Amino acid sequence: MATDSMRTFDAVVLGSGPGGYVCAIRLAQYGLKTACIDKGALGGVCLNVGCIPSKALIHASKVYKKAKDGAGMGVIAGDLHVDMAAMQAWKTGITQKLSGGIGGLFKGNGVTHIAGTGKLAGPGKLIVTGADGKTETIGYGKLVIATGSSPIAIPGFAFDGAQIIDSTGALAISTLPKAMAVIGGGVIGLELTDVYARLGVQVTVIEAADRILAMFDADVARPVYQKQIKLGVKHLQGAKALGATKLANGRVRVEVEVGGKPDALEVDVVLVAVGRRPNTRDIGLETVGLTADARGVIATDNQLRTTAANVWAIGDVTQGPMLAHKASRDGEVAAESVAGKKTALDIIAMPNVVYTDPEIATVGPTLAELQATGKPLKIGKFSFGALGRAMTANATDGFVRLVSDAQTDTILAVQIVGAEASELIASAALALEMGATTEDVALTVHAHPTMAEALLEAAHGAMGHPLHALKP
Ligand code: NAI
Repeated sequence: MATDSMRTFDAVVLGSGPGGYVCAIRLAQYGLKTACIDKGALGGVCLNVGCIPSKALIHASKVYKKAKDGAGMGVIAGDLHVDMAAMQAWKTGITQKLSGGIGGLFKGNGVTHIAGTGKLAGPGKLIVTGADGKTETIGYGKLVIATGSSPIAIPGFAFDGAQIIDSTGALAISTLPKAMAVIGGGVIGLELTDVYARLGVQVTVIEAADRILAMFDADVARPVYQKQIKLGVKHLQGAKALGATKLANGRVRVEVEVGGKPDALEVDVVLVAVGRRPNTRDIGLETVGLTADARGVIATDNQLRTTAANVWAIGDVTQGPMLAHKASRDGEVAAESVAGKKTALDIIAMPNVVYTDPEIATVGPTLAELQATGKPLKIGKFSFGALGRAMTANATDGFVRLVSDAQTDTILAVQIVGAEASELIASAALALEMGATTEDVALTVHAHPTMAEALLEAAHGAMGHPLHALKP
């Protein structure tokens, strides 16, 4: 029950990541008295210890690598070296600026920011514990749970924040190690492998499956694997990481089993990146009669309502991919639902991007998934190796593949592996969302010379009349 002194809001959002802060802004814009609770800096994992800082380090390490490799283009660098502390300071400047920007948006939109750890305390109430240990009870009319996810730990590799680290630790390294083991050849593992391998660290990737990036088509993942091998990365596939021992020489011995055979490597740092788990433990779900499933996921309907009255859930704590842009979309729909507007989550196109070199960006199912349906398909594929702009950018790895329904010509999926794939996927996502056909893309004039012309060429190919390639 609310007491007179208790701060009470029409809507409270628990968590300020790209799901939570977007939701809070929208709620305030709809006229609800809104608060957003977070124990850390505004922006959550994505902005502070995820998407944004990783992209900063990816970019900075590319600048170094490009300068190093520039001689072939007539760019000769002198005393080229990496100042890791300065690189980290640059990265932190960006995250701080963006986090401060959310604070500004909160102020401008009238969202109250409550700093502290929030825990559900029965219907209509939350208890927030501040950094100083002081608690405050907050009342809500409607609650949106947006608590995100955390890295999964594996047996034998207890995180110590220094030598056995998660992605947060790997984004804060200020002295480059000589050698690093990366457990998990997924999105996080491979993006950070690229960063540190480019900066000269000897990286070994230990992947349990028989290939890296198993969620993508094999031919889409291959150019990333090949480029990392060229960079000197060692890939152990079908490999189990058994445990780590700290050695007297300050290094870490990692026991592995590769193809059933025991092996070991000595490194300075071990990054564990084997997936993430929703933050749904210890947030008091039971106090409102909610339970998460075995993976920690809270079930919702297509308006992001949970089964508890007046409680919504968005982003990584719900079903679907753990992606920042998915969380933001959830946040907008949940805000509409909370505000009593007609709405439903109805996503046709959800882009999926990996910021490796080359980048991977896809929208729609994989080719293998589409082929498994038995539906007749039209496929157009164009290699960046045949594209003028790609040659001038020294970025000829990879291809664009466009897959459409052979009967209706409607585009079902686009898979891109290549430089700037993360940007190119936007027009492919728009095409899917609008129900575009291959012909629509083929009739769209694309600027020349651009990397985007590869999508145009793939569309021509799918229609059976390629321009800058021969018929397969
Ligand atoms: P992931 O699911 O992408 O990859 C984990 C990898 O670890 C898999 O290949 C898996 O086979 C392997 N693995 C699992 N257990 C293992 C073990 N014991 N030993 C060796 N290998 C093992 O997970 P990741 O990279 O941790 O990323 C978590 C989530 O964060 C992803 O689901 C992704 O959605 C999100 N994310 C998205 C990014 C983006 O959109 N660019 C960037 C970073 C993260």
